[in-house]
Amino acid sequence: MSGPIASSKVSRPIVLIALIFLYLPHTFAQSHPNAKDLLKQMTLEEKVAQLSQLPGFPIHEFKEQVGDPKDTLRKYGAGSVLWVSDPKEINQWQHIAVDESRLHIPVIFGLDVIHGYHTIFPAPIAMASSWDPRMVEAAQTVAAREARAAGIAWTFGPMVDIARDARWGRMVEGAGEDPYLGAAMARAQVLGFQGTQPGALDRVLACAKHFAGYGAVEGGRDYDSSYIPEEQMWNTYLPPFKAAADAGAATFMSAYMDLNEVPATGNRWLLHDVLREAWNFKGFVVSDANAVHSLITHGYARDGDDAAYKAFSAGLDMDMASGTYLKYLADEVRSGRISMQQIDASVLAILEAKIRLGLFEHPFVDESKIGQVLNNPEHQHLARTAIQRSVVLLRNEQNALPLDKSKIKSIAVIGPLADAQLDLLDMWGALVKPGPTVDIVQGIKNKVGSAAEVEFAHGPNIRRDIPSFFENQPIVTVKEQPEQTPEEARKAFDDAVALAKRSDVAILVLGEIALMSGEAASRSSLKLSGGQEELLEAVVATGKPVVLVLVNGRPLNISWASEHVPAILETWYPGSQAGNGIADILFGDANPAGHLPVSWPRSAATLPLYYNHTRTHAPEDAPDFKSRYWDIKSTPLYPFGYGLSYTTFSFDNLKLSQTEAKVGGSVDVSVDVTNTGSRAGDEVVQLYIHQQAGSASRPVRQLKGFQRVNLAAGAKQTLHFKLGPEELQFWSPTKKQWVVEPEHFDVWVGDNSQAKLHSEFHLTQ
Ligand code: NOJ
Repeated sequence: MSGPIASSKVSRPIVLIALIFLYLPHTFAQSHPNAKDLLKQMTLEEKVAQLSQLPGFPIHEFKEQVGDPKDTLRKYGAGSVLWVSDPKEINQWQHIAVDESRLHIPVIFGLDVIHGYHTIFPAPIAMASSWDPRMVEAAQTVAAREARAAGIAWTFGPMVDIARDARWGRMVEGAGEDPYLGAAMARAQVLGFQGTQPGALDRVLACAKHFAGYGAVEGGRDYDSSYIPEEQMWNTYLPPFKAAADAGAATFMSAYMDLNEVPATGNRWLLHDVLREAWNFKGFVVSDANAVHSLITHGYARDGDDAAYKAFSAGLDMDMASGTYLKYLADEVRSGRISMQQIDASVLAILEAKIRLGLFEHPFVDESKIGQVLNNPEHQHLARTAIQRSVVLLRNEQNALPLDKSKIKSIAVIGPLADAQLDLLDMWGALVKPGPTVDIVQGIKNKVGSAAEVEFAHGPNIRRDIPSFFENQPIVTVKEQPEQTPEEARKAFDDAVALAKRSDVAILVLGEIALMSGEAASRSSLKLSGGQEELLEAVVATGKPVVLVLVNGRPLNISWASEHVPAILETWYPGSQAGNGIADILFGDANPAGHLPVSWPRSAATLPLYYNHTRTHAPEDAPDFKSRYWDIKSTPLYPFGYGLSYTTFSFDNLKLSQTEAKVGGSVDVSVDVTNTGSRAGDEVVQLYIHQQAGSASRPVRQLKGFQRVNLAAGAKQTLHFKLGPEELQFWSPTKKQWVVEPEHFDVWVGDNSQAKLHSEFHLTQ
């Protein structure tokens, strides 16, 4: 042997080990870069690019400000790309980042995987109606697995905005009106998306949005300003966000609107004082789409420079799609208004997220493996179970439901949503890459087989009065139903009524097409639009048994139906397995146990409406002066927490571990729940409290515990709840801090927010 190694006296194994050590740091550095080392190599422009999210399809404003997003990616890299849902395209973008950009840093692909990517689960408001955080976590675990297999590593969810006004179209995307239920759903979704170790290869990063107060937009008009006093922020709007942060949410998204006259995207109190200082959040914050640029439109920033400065110095790390950071932020650093240290801190957080996600080792999607993940039958099974657990039975006179297959020979399925496959997914469900949907006509056919004849009549088409902006967006596949002449609409109406007349039972599927709710879909009335109310009344007038199945994103005005239609099911937007899951409930193969996550208004005139309001000096049950309208009841048609079952339950034996406890201590509550009917079923047991006096008026009731339990017919179970400082504290507007006060407290347990079973305890100093 010749050469330096052979001629040395060092033995072979030692040489090998030395060689491994020589090469190891190099390979390691390539696959596991160190964020700080990467940062040292970056130019200011490359850093700013990491703080930018590029639109995955051409947006006019972005092009005007910055140019072609792919050129930016090539030149400087980027933090993230959004609105690309196709794995092939994802790989094309990623190749530009990894192969062509100077530092080869991969991008994170972000998308609104709100309730599924291929397998679409019920919309978030539906999942909240299940009061079943474990099911919700499981659903979002599947959503994450499918999205990640397709190359999406970051979802813009959960949406955890408290919504108390059903005119606001985005109520559908969240968990309703209650901070306690909202926090439970926020936690479950973050854990589902991320797991407990954010970054795993079958998970995605979560993004709690829209931080914060978006649900309180004035008049329920999307994007309008919110005015929320600090105590309401802490006690009502922030708790679900806090729960998301505590569950480890890797990212937050700032909201669009003005919050108390400071746009959320430039609001340092929110993004810094609350999120980073009070909650110790260590992830990064992205703006909503174009929201950094919108600071100018709001009249908060003078120009692009000022917008970049105000957003960034408020604590906004990443600019979603507006290009404002790309165009102006570097100059802000050069002029000394923003320091390089501040920029580095934000870039580091983003690089670290990429490292944690394993993007440096696995930047590309393995297209050959996606099908295997997406076509897992267990995913469809879970989607079906999720519907069974989410549907809310609002009315069931004389046990109109479940339907008995053996007695029905002909079924009329009627309505503009019964076969509307994409609409059953809601806008976000239709925007990702949904697999096939089982519509409601098909689901009923699947269920009854040859036992009964199932016929379908669509009825008149339904449309928005003012078209949706989203209809013309390249990534939005769901459309309005076509316009009809009055004659066509009349004929569709008459055909539907005729079908009901010649059938044994009519199942009407009414509500809102997907574009009628969600973003930019606020409405002034909650009526069943487009002739649906008239169709319902005409079908009921035939005298045939009628079941109303609602498909919608918000409570609708069903005051007439609530008195004249024997059975009403709220299914929200049920997702891929819509038809099968709903048929399971209609025919009794599943027993409904969903409960409302919102108070159901009688009409839009009573909005905003929520059960946990404070008590006025003239409450509705007072003898003379009353806080109400004289032409309509202000009470809900169905209260928060309400939902029926095919069986019945009783609650008794409400016991407290003590009737007096010290501030800082806790009281245990127990209650017996019995299934008093003749079939098994789930009940959602809810615990409410009320602090009778204190340093501030306290809400008449507040949810502070719930459990969903399954009970066989006749079975009884004792349930336990704990009321400790966590449950008893509130942020006091007079003391400007969190307090637990030595006062008297009411406790109620039952199956909705008007539960009667009551007890009391006293907290002492
Ligand atoms: C705007 C919406 O407000 C937000 O919820 C969404 O995540 C982004 N667009 C991205 O699609």
